Amino acid sequence: MIEGTGAKLNHVAIIMDGNGRWANERAHRRVWGHVRGSSVVSNIVEEADDLGLKALTLYAFSTENWSRPLTEVKTLFSLLKKFLKKERARILKNKIRFKVIGDIDKLPEETKKLIVDLEDETKTFEGLKLTFAFGYGGRDEIAKAVNKFIAENPGQPITQDAICANMMAPEIGDVDLLIRTGGDQRISNFLLWQSAYAELFFTPTKWPDFTREEFKKIVVDVLARERRFGNVAATDSLSESLSIAEKNKKELEELQTRSH
Ligand code: IPE
Ligand code: IPE
Ligand code: MG
Repeated sequence: MIEGTGAKLNHVAIIMDGNGRWANERAHRRVWGHVRGSSVVSNIVEEADDLGLKALTLYAFSTENWSRPLTEVKTLFSLLKKFLKKERARILKNKIRFKVIGDIDKLPEETKKLIVDLEDETKTFEGLKLTFAFGYGGRDEIAKAVNKFIAENPGQPITQDAICANMMAPEIGDVDLLIRTGGDQRISNFLLWQSAYAELFFTPTKWPDFTREEFKKIVVDVLARERRFGNVAATDSLSESLSIAEKNKKELEELQTRSH
């Protein structure tokens, strides 16, 4: 965790957007933007590690991105494969725990094997939790979590805790800061459940131009924000706010019973 005058940050999630426009502005095809964008990823992972974050989740391919031209989809697949091959050694050296959330079923067998092997090799690591969201949609993840719980616990009521525990990577927890590059101000079906109380930061910088310096500056800016989680004063976390809420509700109940 890193701590500022206001916020405490464990988990940062990034919507890496703007590759296509970046390339078009330079009279290149969209895929060139993806090629340039993919080379930015390792710098940002390194900075997240240096900053002491616990988790970094990167949105690489959404359930909706399946609607793009197949040549573009294939380029994104091959860039993921290249990244895995190129970064494997560094991920192992830095004790990064790597995981992919989403649906990787339609990826080529070789890429799926690279993912499964790296997940397996890094599963006991205690360093940065690096998660790639690929073939990922927040609604899809929630629906799958609910179905998994129902299948394993027939007849039991679904609770918030049960949904959290059945997410694709429950250990990454709530998002503290959600950054989107590329200038658009929307969530685009990313980590909907986990971002319930996330700080949001939208930068006009397109992903291929995003630097570790800008990333650090955003984190430092957000560390100065006061997070209240529904309270009137600075509060440490959503769970702290919820436990205060429970205590208040009990006290109120007692007062009401006494006054009857
Ligand atoms: C983000 O860049 C990468 C993916 C969605 C895979 P885009 O490809 O969406 O780039 P823009 O938003 O069209 O510029
Ligand atoms: C969100 O970007 C998905 C990723 C960055 C992987 P999009 O470019 O697909 O989002 P929209 O379509 O502009 O909302
Ligand atoms: Mg986009």
